[in-house]
Amino acid sequence: MDKYLKHAGLSGDSGKGKKLVRILERYRQEHVLEHIGRLSGRKKDRFIKEASALDLKLVLDLYSEISRGRPSRPGYARIDPPRVYRPTEPGVNGMLYGMGETSIGKGENGVLIVAGGQATRLRYPYPKGMYPVTPVKKKSLFMLLSEKVRAVSLRYGADIPLLIMTNPESDILVKRYFEKNGFFGLGRKNVLFFQQELLPSVSPGGKLVIREDGLLASSPDGHGGCLKAAFKSGVAGKLKERGIRRLFYCHVDNPLVKVLDPLFLGYHLRSEADFSLKTVRKRPGEKVGTFLYADGKAAVVEYIELNEVLDERGSSHAVEAFDSGSIGVHLIELSFMESLFFKSGGLPYHRQEKELQVEGGKRIGIWKFETFIFDAIPFAGKVSCMETSREEEFAPLKNFSGMDSPRDVREAMSSLHRKWLTSAGIRVKEKTEVEISPLFALDESDFARKMKGRKLLLQGKSLYIE
Ligand code: UTP
Repeated sequence: MDKYLKHAGLSGDSGKGKKLVRILERYRQEHVLEHIGRLSGRKKDRFIKEASALDLKLVLDLYSEISRGRPSRPGYARIDPPRVYRPTEPGVNGMLYGMGETSIGKGENGVLIVAGGQATRLRYPYPKGMYPVTPVKKKSLFMLLSEKVRAVSLRYGADIPLLIMTNPESDILVKRYFEKNGFFGLGRKNVLFFQQELLPSVSPGGKLVIREDGLLASSPDGHGGCLKAAFKSGVAGKLKERGIRRLFYCHVDNPLVKVLDPLFLGYHLRSEADFSLKTVRKRPGEKVGTFLYADGKAAVVEYIELNEVLDERGSSHAVEAFDSGSIGVHLIELSFMESLFFKSGGLPYHRQEKELQVEGGKRIGIWKFETFIFDAIPFAGKVSCMETSREEEFAPLKNFSGMDSPRDVREAMSSLHRKWLTSAGIRVKEKTEVEISPLFALDESDFARKMKGRKLLLQGKSLYIE
């Protein structure tokens, strides 16, 4: 130990530095010790502070388990297509919708937007939620989603807390953005921020990676990190005190999401589910998780693992039978979240391969570890799943260009709103860009109701209705 403390220039240290050196020594990370030894003053203090906040042990143990051949996921004996509710009967739908509306009116539901991802594929230099996404007004994702929460809140006369999960790097920017914009009319007390944790990254050879700025490479611990972070931050406790029973969960990058959709909520309540999900029919090769039954239990399998799972499955269903794609829209009971938080082990970690720029401007392949929210499903007592239409509810903003790019997303929004206009008896040209504010109407029937007897004068190539 003394030798290693000397190595890192920390012989006199008795606190954090010593602890860090002990871990680095145990996991044979001599290159990091040497790096610390080369640092001095504030730079060294900062390195030690930040590295000590990372769970190095967790990641280095995961690495050694993987290199010893531990399978990355459970093996299943039997895989079956899932039971999915397809809302087609108006009578049943009306009843479920009413149940959902009553629950919203009681003020027992909150909304959680996970916004802690790094948005590497979009190549946007700010948090993804700040991306100006809407076709006409160029509202940001945060603004649009906040307006949806506000519209639901006004419609049902209920206070709806909005939780935003950030990461330690984006947190300040996101908070300032909301403050600067007056919390988009939601009221400061109704917007609760919490940070997810960062995990260190490793090289494919199992070495911690030193970034270009001399600090350890790390990345957010996946959207599944919200379960832990909501409780550790104390935010979940505050919700319980406010009488909140469940959270509507969504990703920050889907502007079509129907926030707190009463029909989905009603179905979740009638099913007495702990966890619910919405799915769409998958396109061939689409990069979304697939909902299915594994050994009789509901589960979502990540897209890169699906073929492998199906190849080893002990059932006779054709691949086409597994076409339910999870769109990252959930209802989660707080009591279930709490039980998961206290359960030892928690959600499993998945290894992701990414590229990173290191000292000297070189790009190298790294491994990062993440947990996924849908891995909570097998822990749930009851799970319910409702299918919806892609055109109405799913247009994820993922890539700088090509599929799921800003252009695709804007077109999906315009196209949906053109359809609302057409069904309200208003004709618009194919190419017209249309944007309807959530504060005007939340869905097609709401829009038709509000447009009754009103005339619309269409001018130019774009139309905004508020
Ligand atoms: P993605 O998995 O698509 O990741 O996130 P991303 O960060 O947006 O984009 P890439 O992969 O780096 O290009 C889906 C949702 O989960 C959130 C994202 O913010 C997005 O809302 N997320 C993802 C987190 O909140 N934390 C994470 O660690 C990862």
